[in-house]
Amino acid sequence: MKMSKQLNQPSWAVIIAIAIVAGLAILLLLPRRVQTDRFSTPAASNLSTLYDKLGGRDAIVALVDEFVSTLSADRRISPFFAKIDLVRFKQLFVEQLCETLGGPCKYSGRSMKETHAGLGIKHSDFANFIEDFVMAMDKLKLPEDQKNALISLLDRMKPDIVEKKESP
Ligand code: HEM
Repeated sequence: MKMSKQLNQPSWAVIIAIAIVAGLAILLLLPRRVQTDRFSTPAASNLSTLYDKLGGRDAIVALVDEFVSTLSADRRISPFFAKIDLVRFKQLFVEQLCETLGGPCKYSGRSMKETHAGLGIKHSDFANFIEDFVMAMDKLKLPEDQKNALISLLDRMKPDIVEKKESP
């Protein structure tokens, strides 16, 4: 009787120790999970993988370079960009895409509303801008899913950029 009690005591101690370790593990992991769920929506986590899928910052720089060449040769919208510092525009556009796609960058420019206020951008100007962006993506042979994700990301900014109804 005494012998079996002695044998049982250490096994209870082991069970209690395991329970404490498991409890601590749950307590440590739970807050992280809650934090991730609160701050990263499913859309945001898809976007952050898109930054990697695209090939990181170098790929974004290449895309923006190609886009600005296309845009500068497009007489439909090049007048908008005629007097602006294109080097600065490229830097800010790269920062913006990099940050929005989940990359390790910080956009240092103005908001889209503030930036484009008073420029009189119409729906058709926006469509031409996107068309040039698609041409640049095609030139760099981006896969269809990445192209679509980038287009929808830009499209979400449209209400802050377009301010003029089409002229009749
Ligand atoms: C989703 C589409 C667009 C994005 C993401 C975008 C992004 C940007 C960014 C990041 C800047 C620099 C911000 C700054 O100076 O602080 C900028 C400036 C500018 N954008 Fe856009 N843009 C878009 C559409 C357009 C369109 C459709 C036009 C005209 C057709 C346009 C014309 C300009 C001009 C003229 C500037 C220079 C403004 C200035 O320096 O005062 N943008 N844009």
